[in-house]
Amino acid sequence: MTDNHKYDAQLRENADPHEKAEPVPWVVLLVIAGLFLWGIYYIFSSNLSYDSTVGDNRIAADFKAPEGAEGGKIDGHQLFVAQCAACHQATGAGIPGVFPPLVGSEWVLRKPEVLVQILLHGITGEITVKGNKYNGAMPEFREKFNDAEMAAVVNYLRTELGDNSADPVDEAFVKAEREKTADKTDHWNGDADLAPMEQ
Ligand code: HEC
Repeated sequence: MTDNHKYDAQLRENADPHEKAEPVPWVVLLVIAGLFLWGIYYIFSSNLSYDSTVGDNRIAADFKAPEGAEGGKIDGHQLFVAQCAACHQATGAGIPGVFPPLVGSEWVLRKPEVLVQILLHGITGEITVKGNKYNGAMPEFREKFNDAEMAAVVNYLRTELGDNSADPVDEAFVKAEREKTADKTDHWNGDADLAPMEQ
Protein backbone atom coordinates (compact mmCIF):
# COMPACT_ATOMS: atom_id res chain seq x y z
CA MET A 1 0.00 0.00 0.00
CA THR A 2 2.79 2.35 0.85
CA ASP A 3 4.35 1.26 -2.38
CA ASN A 4 1.17 2.21 -4.21
CA HIS A 5 1.15 5.72 -2.76
CA LYS A 6 4.66 6.18 -3.80
CA TYR A 7 3.71 5.09 -7.32
CA ASP A 8 0.82 7.59 -7.52
CA ALA A 9 3.09 10.41 -6.41
CA GLN A 10 5.55 9.50 -9.07
CA LEU A 11 2.80 9.49 -11.69
CA ARG A 12 1.81 13.03 -10.82
CA GLU A 13 5.31 14.33 -11.46
CA ASN A 14 6.34 15.57 -14.87
CA ALA A 15 9.53 14.21 -16.24
CA ASP A 16 12.61 16.38 -15.78
CA PRO A 17 13.04 18.69 -18.78
CA HIS A 18 15.98 17.90 -20.92
CA GLU A 19 17.69 19.77 -23.68
CA LYS A 20 16.63 18.51 -27.04
CA ALA A 21 19.01 18.31 -29.89
CA GLU A 22 16.88 18.91 -32.97
CA PRO A 23 18.98 18.70 -36.08
CA VAL A 24 18.46 21.40 -38.74
CA PRO A 25 16.21 19.80 -41.38
CA TRP A 26 18.26 18.64 -44.33
CA VAL A 27 16.05 20.58 -46.75
CA VAL A 28 17.10 23.85 -45.12
CA LEU A 29 20.76 22.84 -45.24
CA LEU A 30 20.33 22.01 -48.89
CA VAL A 31 18.78 25.42 -49.63
CA ILE A 32 21.59 27.23 -47.77
CA ALA A 33 24.24 25.22 -49.60
CA GLY A 34 22.46 25.94 -52.88
CA LEU A 35 22.40 29.69 -52.23
CA PHE A 36 26.05 29.64 -51.24
CA LEU A 37 27.08 27.85 -54.42
CA TRP A 38 24.86 30.13 -56.51
CA GLY A 39 26.53 33.16 -54.86
CA ILE A 40 29.98 31.93 -55.81
CA TYR A 41 28.78 31.16 -59.31
CA TYR A 42 27.19 34.65 -59.57
CA ILE A 43 30.38 36.45 -58.54
CA PHE A 44 32.45 34.62 -61.12
CA SER A 45 29.90 34.74 -63.88
CA SER A 46 28.97 38.45 -63.67
CA ASN A 47 30.81 41.29 -65.30
CA LEU A 48 31.86 43.54 -62.40
CA SER A 49 33.99 45.88 -64.45
CA TYR A 50 31.27 48.54 -64.89
CA ASP A 51 32.39 52.13 -64.65
CA SER A 52 31.40 53.14 -61.14
CA THR A 53 30.43 56.62 -62.34
CA VAL A 54 27.51 55.47 -64.46
CA GLY A 55 24.13 56.66 -63.25
CA ASP A 56 22.40 60.00 -63.07
CA ASN A 57 24.99 62.45 -61.81
CA ARG A 58 23.11 65.56 -62.87
CA ILE A 59 22.69 68.25 -60.25
CA ALA A 60 20.05 70.99 -59.96
CA ALA A 61 22.26 73.50 -61.77
CA ASP A 62 22.26 71.30 -64.88
CA PHE A 63 18.55 71.95 -65.28
CA LYS A 64 18.80 75.70 -65.08
CA ALA A 65 17.71 77.54 -68.20
CA PRO A 66 20.66 78.90 -70.13
CA GLU A 67 21.63 82.48 -69.30
CA GLY A 68 19.42 84.96 -71.15
CA ALA A 69 16.78 82.45 -72.22
CA GLU A 70 13.50 84.24 -72.81
CA GLY A 71 11.27 83.53 -69.86
CA GLY A 72 13.22 80.32 -69.25
CA LYS A 73 11.07 77.26 -68.98
CA ILE A 74 8.50 79.05 -66.91
CA ASP A 75 4.94 78.31 -67.94
CA GLY A 76 3.09 81.62 -68.26
CA HIS A 77 -0.23 79.85 -68.65
CA GLN A 78 0.31 78.01 -65.37
CA LEU A 79 1.09 81.28 -63.58
CA PHE A 80 -1.95 82.94 -65.14
CA VAL A 81 -4.24 80.15 -63.96
CA ALA A 82 -2.74 80.27 -60.47
CA GLN A 83 -2.56 84.05 -59.98
CA CYS A 84 -4.97 85.81 -62.34
CA ALA A 85 -7.78 83.49 -63.42
CA ALA A 86 -9.66 83.78 -60.13
CA CYS A 87 -10.52 87.36 -61.03
CA HIS A 88 -10.03 87.68 -64.77
CA GLN A 89 -11.44 84.16 -65.42
CA ALA A 90 -9.65 81.30 -67.13
CA THR A 91 -10.72 82.57 -70.55
CA GLY A 92 -9.44 86.08 -69.75
CA ALA A 93 -12.90 87.45 -70.49
CA GLY A 94 -13.30 88.94 -67.01
CA ILE A 95 -16.67 89.51 -65.35
CA PRO A 96 -18.68 92.46 -66.71
CA GLY A 97 -18.66 95.38 -64.34
CA VAL A 98 -16.32 93.70 -61.84
CA PHE A 99 -13.15 92.30 -63.42
CA PRO A 100 -12.08 93.76 -66.77
CA PRO A 101 -11.28 91.49 -69.72
CA LEU A 102 -7.70 90.73 -70.72
CA VAL A 103 -8.65 89.35 -74.13
CA GLY A 104 -8.72 92.24 -76.57
CA SER A 105 -7.82 94.73 -73.83
CA GLU A 106 -5.90 97.75 -75.05
CA TRP A 107 -3.83 97.68 -71.81
CA VAL A 108 -2.63 94.20 -72.64
CA LEU A 109 -2.06 94.67 -76.35
CA ARG A 110 -0.65 98.17 -76.69
CA LYS A 111 2.60 99.16 -74.95
CA PRO A 112 4.14 96.22 -73.07
CA GLU A 113 5.77 98.80 -70.75
CA VAL A 114 2.36 99.73 -69.37
CA LEU A 115 1.28 96.11 -68.98
CA VAL A 116 4.43 95.35 -67.00
CA GLN A 117 3.87 98.45 -64.85
CA ILE A 118 0.29 97.32 -64.15
CA LEU A 119 1.54 93.92 -63.01
CA LEU A 120 4.37 95.40 -60.94
CA HIS A 121 2.25 97.86 -58.99
CA GLY A 122 -1.45 96.99 -59.39
CA ILE A 123 -4.29 99.44 -59.96
CA THR A 124 -6.96 101.19 -57.94
CA GLY A 125 -9.31 103.84 -59.19
CA GLU A 126 -11.30 104.11 -62.36
CA ILE A 127 -9.94 102.43 -65.47
CA THR A 128 -11.56 102.15 -68.90
CA VAL A 129 -11.19 98.83 -70.67
CA LYS A 130 -12.75 98.26 -74.11
CA GLY A 131 -15.07 101.20 -73.55
CA ASN A 132 -16.33 100.08 -70.14
CA LYS A 133 -15.40 101.67 -66.83
CA TYR A 134 -14.18 99.58 -63.90
CA ASN A 135 -13.46 100.73 -60.40
CA GLY A 136 -11.96 97.89 -58.44
CA ALA A 137 -8.54 96.92 -57.14
CA MET A 138 -5.92 94.98 -59.01
CA PRO A 139 -3.23 93.54 -56.71
CA GLU A 140 0.48 94.17 -57.37
CA PHE A 141 2.76 91.31 -58.34
CA ARG A 142 6.23 92.84 -57.98
CA GLU A 143 7.09 90.60 -55.05
CA LYS A 144 5.26 87.50 -56.24
CA PHE A 145 6.87 87.30 -59.67
CA ASN A 146 10.54 87.58 -60.51
CA ASP A 147 11.51 89.07 -63.88
CA ALA A 148 11.40 85.77 -65.72
CA GLU A 149 7.98 84.87 -64.31
CA MET A 150 6.61 88.31 -65.07
CA ALA A 151 7.88 88.03 -68.66
CA ALA A 152 6.25 84.61 -69.00
CA VAL A 153 2.87 85.93 -67.81
CA VAL A 154 3.11 89.03 -70.01
CA ASN A 155 3.93 86.87 -73.02
CA TYR A 156 1.09 84.51 -72.25
CA LEU A 157 -1.32 87.47 -72.15
CA ARG A 158 0.06 89.05 -75.31
CA THR A 159 0.58 86.00 -77.49
CA GLU A 160 -1.58 83.12 -76.31
CA LEU A 161 -4.62 84.22 -74.33
CA GLY A 162 -7.78 84.18 -76.45
CA ASP A 163 -6.99 85.70 -79.83
CA ASN A 164 -4.50 88.17 -78.40
CA SER A 165 -1.55 88.74 -80.66
CA ALA A 166 1.20 91.26 -79.83
CA ASP A 167 4.99 91.28 -79.57
CA PRO A 168 6.48 89.32 -76.65
CA VAL A 169 8.95 90.77 -74.14
CA ASP A 170 11.97 89.28 -72.44
CA GLU A 171 13.29 89.14 -68.91
CA ALA A 172 15.62 92.14 -69.43
CA PHE A 173 12.64 94.23 -70.51
CA VAL A 174 10.82 93.46 -67.25
CA LYS A 175 13.99 94.13 -65.27
CA ALA A 176 14.34 97.58 -66.86
CA GLU A 177 10.68 98.41 -66.10
CA ARG A 178 11.11 97.23 -62.54
CA GLU A 179 14.12 99.50 -62.06
CA LYS A 180 12.28 102.49 -63.54
CA THR A 181 9.67 102.41 -60.78
CA ALA A 182 11.70 100.74 -58.03
CA ASP A 183 10.69 103.40 -55.48
CA LYS A 184 6.94 103.11 -56.08
CA THR A 185 5.01 101.41 -53.29
CA ASP A 186 1.37 102.29 -54.03
CA HIS A 187 -1.00 101.25 -56.83
CA TRP A 188 -1.41 103.10 -60.11
CA ASN A 189 -4.45 105.33 -60.09
CA GLY A 190 -6.40 103.88 -63.04
CA ASP A 191 -6.77 105.90 -66.23
CA ALA A 192 -5.30 109.01 -64.60
CA ASP A 193 -1.84 107.43 -64.18
CA LEU A 194 -1.85 104.87 -66.92
CA ALA A 195 -3.40 106.62 -69.93
CA PRO A 196 -0.53 109.16 -70.18
CA MET A 197 1.94 106.27 -70.26
CA GLU A 198 0.35 104.96 -73.44
CA GLN A 199 1.17 108.22 -75.24
C1 HEC B 1 -8.15 90.13 -56.94
C2 HEC B 1 -8.56 90.14 -58.31
C3 HEC B 1 -7.52 90.28 -59.38
C4 HEC B 1 -6.41 89.51 -59.60
C5 HEC B 1 -5.95 88.29 -58.79
C6 HEC B 1 -5.78 90.00 -60.78
N1 HEC B 1 -6.46 91.09 -61.24
FE1 HEC B 1 -5.99 92.19 -62.87
N2 HEC B 1 -7.46 93.50 -62.40
C7 HEC B 1 -8.37 93.34 -61.38
C8 HEC B 1 -9.25 94.50 -61.34
C9 HEC B 1 -10.38 94.71 -60.38
C10 HEC B 1 -8.81 95.35 -62.37
C11 HEC B 1 -9.35 96.73 -62.67
C12 HEC B 1 -8.70 97.71 -61.71
C13 HEC B 1 -9.49 98.95 -61.44
O1 HEC B 1 -10.68 98.94 -61.67
O2 HEC B 1 -8.86 99.91 -60.97
C14 HEC B 1 -7.71 94.69 -63.03
C15 HEC B 1 -7.02 95.19 -64.11
C16 HEC B 1 -6.08 94.51 -64.83
C17 HEC B 1 -5.46 94.98 -66.06
C18 HEC B 1 -5.75 96.27 -66.78
C19 HEC B 1 -7.13 96.27 -67.38
C20 HEC B 1 -7.35 95.19 -68.42
O3 HEC B 1 -8.32 94.45 -68.26
O4 HEC B 1 -6.55 95.06 -69.33
C21 HEC B 1 -4.60 94.01 -66.45
C22 HEC B 1 -3.73 94.01 -67.69
C23 HEC B 1 -4.64 92.96 -65.46
N3 HEC B 1 -5.54 93.29 -64.48
C24 HEC B 1 -3.88 91.81 -65.50
C25 HEC B 1 -3.83 90.87 -64.48
C26 HEC B 1 -2.92 89.76 -64.45
C27 HEC B 1 -1.94 89.39 -65.55
C28 HEC B 1 -3.10 89.11 -63.27
C29 HEC B 1 -2.35 87.94 -62.73
C30 HEC B 1 -0.93 88.05 -62.67
C31 HEC B 1 -4.17 89.83 -62.58
N4 HEC B 1 -4.57 90.86 -63.33
C32 HEC B 1 -4.65 89.44 -61.34
C33 HEC B 1 -8.45 92.28 -60.52
C34 HEC B 1 -7.52 91.29 -60.41
